[in-house]
Amino acid sequence: MAKYEIIGGTPLSGEVTISGAKNAAVAILPAALLVAGKCRVENVPDISDVRILLDILQDMGAQVEWEAPGVVRLDCTQITKTTPNPVLVRKMRASYYLMGALLSRFGEANVALPGGCNFASRPIDQHIKGFRALGADVEETEDYVNLAAGEDGLCGSRISLDVVSVGATVNIIMAATLLPGQTVIENAAKEPHIVDLANFLNTMGARISGAGTDTVKIRGVERLHGGSYAIIPDQIEAGTYLAAVAAAGGNVLVKNVIPKHMECITSKLQEMGAKVINYDDCIRIRSEGRLRNTTVKTRPYPGFPTDMQAQICVCMALADGVSRLTENVYETRFFGYCTELQDMGAEILVNGKTAIVTGTEKLHGTEVCAHDLRAGAALIIAGLVAEGKTTVRNVHFVERGYENIIEKFTALGARITRTDD
Ligand code: UD1
Repeated sequence: MAKYEIIGGTPLSGEVTISGAKNAAVAILPAALLVAGKCRVENVPDISDVRILLDILQDMGAQVEWEAPGVVRLDCTQITKTTPNPVLVRKMRASYYLMGALLSRFGEANVALPGGCNFASRPIDQHIKGFRALGADVEETEDYVNLAAGEDGLCGSRISLDVVSVGATVNIIMAATLLPGQTVIENAAKEPHIVDLANFLNTMGARISGAGTDTVKIRGVERLHGGSYAIIPDQIEAGTYLAAVAAAGGNVLVKNVIPKHMECITSKLQEMGAKVINYDDCIRIRSEGRLRNTTVKTRPYPGFPTDMQAQICVCMALADGVSRLTENVYETRFFGYCTELQDMGAEILVNGKTAIVTGTEKLHGTEVCAHDLRAGAALIIAGLVAEGKTTVRNVHFVERGYENIIEKFTALGARITRTDD
């Protein structure tokens, strides 16, 4: 088990380059299963979730090669299994995207239930509803989801999601890509990585329109061809560095971002007193480290992302006055980090889906434990601000989604080291 040790109190300065988006990569790599040909994917973050997915694909018969840092070549022409290795599948959340991709290409899939960050109960009923609407017979056991083409075969259909779900939207897009007929997903999620997945598939010959709106249409095609594609920058990684500068103070240029994807986050940080300047593909942030209180409600995109809830909570914990933070996507997410922040001196009162955060002048370093990916990121930010030494344990969660986080923060002047226990 690795841990990070952070000596707080240094403002951040310099430049940081944002990696490819985790949540786009973990959708696009399984989507390569739909392609009977060679794909070259650029801007792939080297994080443990990506490594696990590539291992799963390789184990299924795909040829996988890192051509250069950030560039992966994949050839899924010779896939030999529709039951991916369950031990690997259980190591991460996005392995459930193998269901949609395998169903579309081979008409069957037998996929273990996924693992990953357990910050809440994470049902997949909307994914299953979509697969059934496309004509699949779905059998769910305690450990597996078994999918097979039903009596009448698989075919496009109209699906209205009961909740706006990123995972279900992605999985249904994949499942519908190679089926006859047209599929329409209503009440679809609109996250940038859904648009990115659709752009990837369209580059390979799919016919998907409306991604990024709440109605996505997929006209099935017989096959996809190979091609080359570059993943978008990670909105949440960028948001994490912006929040870190807002809280710790400093002056940093955050490079390789799409400022439009960041609006909800940057406007909140500005409201709290940070100075933000948007350029074409980078954002400069300046902060004195003295922030004002605010109100945040997480919502599906284009709302404030639930994946930034914990990081903005640290900013609130250091702001003047009382802030309100309401979680509308994963209610139990506060439990992943609030106790740890309280141990560092934060004043947070969680009442149902709202946290009331009373700003304090200082946090103090202590030993804390990351319980999920974004909670871990928040504890790092808290450690950068706190007086004295903070030790963050369980950082394998952090390394699931942040590429070179130690190197990137160190380059900004942070005093942070990684050691294996
Ligand atoms: C994805 C991201 C995750 C991020 C989350 C919210 C991946 C692999 N994961 O998770 O990092 O934190 O979006 O941006 O990209 N729901 C149902 N039934 C379903 C599916 C979802 O009720 O079948 C509910 C969930 O409980 C939740 C809401 O819908 O309340 C949104 O979930 P969803 O958008 O699917 O999140 P994930 O895809 O799990």
